[in-house]
Amino acid sequence: MIGRSEEYAKMFQLEGQLWWYRSLHERVFMTLQGAFGRRRDIRILDAGCGTGGMLDFLRRQGYTHLRGIDGSADAVAFCHERGFPVTFINLTNLADFEPETQYDAIICNDVFCYFTETDLPPLLSALADRLKPRGILVSNNNAFKAFEGQHDIAVGIRRRFVLADFEQLMPQAGLQIQHATYWSFLLSPLILLMRQWQRLQLRLGWQKPEEAQSDVYLPVAWLNETLYRIAQTEQKLLRRTPFGSSLFIIVDSH
Ligand SMILES: C[S@@+](CC[C@H](N)C(=O)[O-])C[C@H]1O[C@@H](n2cnc3c(N)ncnc32)[C@H](O)[C@@H]1O
Repeated sequence: MIGRSEEYAKMFQLEGQLWWYRSLHERVFMTLQGAFGRRRDIRILDAGCGTGGMLDFLRRQGYTHLRGIDGSADAVAFCHERGFPVTFINLTNLADFEPETQYDAIICNDVFCYFTETDLPPLLSALADRLKPRGILVSNNNAFKAFEGQHDIAVGIRRRFVLADFEQLMPQAGLQIQHATYWSFLLSPLILLMRQWQRLQLRLGWQKPEEAQSDVYLPVAWLNETLYRIAQTEQKLLRRTPFGSSLFIIVDSH
């Protein structure tokens, strides 16, 4: 993804409106509220913060200690435009980033998919090192290979996860999974159908891989709002679901 300026521009433009981002941001916010109640002075790091949509959402909820890091110059520039203290750094060098600072919450959404099997365990250990004793790591991730589509090609996703992957990886990093759910379960048939159609188009040569586009685009307003309501209802009523294109986990130190 790094280097694809047009993808960052789309993200920056749409993340405040697109149903998927709105649902994710609310999910993270609910998690922070669940863990820290009404406190707004907790120290939060968004690791791989992209163009700053998550930070922007949290700032609007009143959080005051927000910090971000990202390995894309495009992403960092957009975050600076929004006025966030975001540092350009490759997460493989996380240990060098303000080593004395620890966080109550680290958010790392849709970043692990860019790491190889060799690079991910050290990253998780480095993230664990930066958590305060009662701190939490909140992470959304691409799930299930069945959901692979043009989106994966367009944004350079290396892998998709299932819960068993993290059940193995987290304890090795001194972390334990407190809560995990796939989402959006209710919308998964629709998303699956769309992604399978994208794959068929690629297989038949109707779509060139080098011209693949991400799923970051705004549908018509009524559809965007309907998808958002469905995802929001699921989040309220179904705390844990067994299937979906994303896997949301909350992790804490042993
Ligand atoms: C799919 S985007 C997600 C952005 C943001 N977390 C969100 O939820 O919108 C992945 C982000 O991870 C960043 N990234 C990927 N590999 C990285 C690395 N090795 N070091 C730092 N950032 C990285 C990319 O620049 C991008 O901003």
